[in-house]
Amino acid sequence: MKKYLVILTLVAIAFSCSPKKNHFINNPNGSSELATLMNQMYSDLFNIKAKVIKGKKVKFQADYSTIMTATPTDESMKNNTFESFATALLQNVKELNTATSANQLEAYKTVVQTCISCHNNSCPGPLMRIANLEITD
Ligand code: HEC
Repeated sequence: MKKYLVILTLVAIAFSCSPKKNHFINNPNGSSELATLMNQMYSDLFNIKAKVIKGKKVKFQADYSTIMTATPTDESMKNNTFESFATALLQNVKELNTATSANQLEAYKTVVQTCISCHNNSCPGPLMRIANLEITD
């Protein structure tokens, strides 16, 4: 009986804000709007990472403004601090959009740090995946 409870708890944790293994499938059993946007941001950044490392100027014209209105898997995920982190993210993405080759690397790193800050605060599950986006010198 105890074993059964432990398994149930693990399943519950796995489903709350966890990294998805099947992230190549676009709409796995109805991902929330917010989760879909998150996966989009992840692959956008992953796709430019190699060029950013090489110092090649990337054309990045991302618009993630729907982060404010996108429906999450669970309403409690959008807690009080969500909005301030989301505002910071939009600002930092704007700076990456308009970055020059001289400040592109810093702008990219700042965006990834913003992902990490919000996730540290409210949704640690995907942090290991987000770590793939980090550029360490
Ligand atoms: C304002 C807070 C916040 C910021 C900033 C943020 N996230 Fe998230 N992220 C969340 C929340 C909340 C969820 C859970 C969404 C859901 O399940 O509806 C999530 C989920 C995810 C997931 C899992 C999606 C899935 O399939 O379940 C990934 C991957 C992710 N975020 C990557 C990122 C990346 C990359 C960035 C930076 C570009 C980022 N996040 C910025 C709050 C944030």
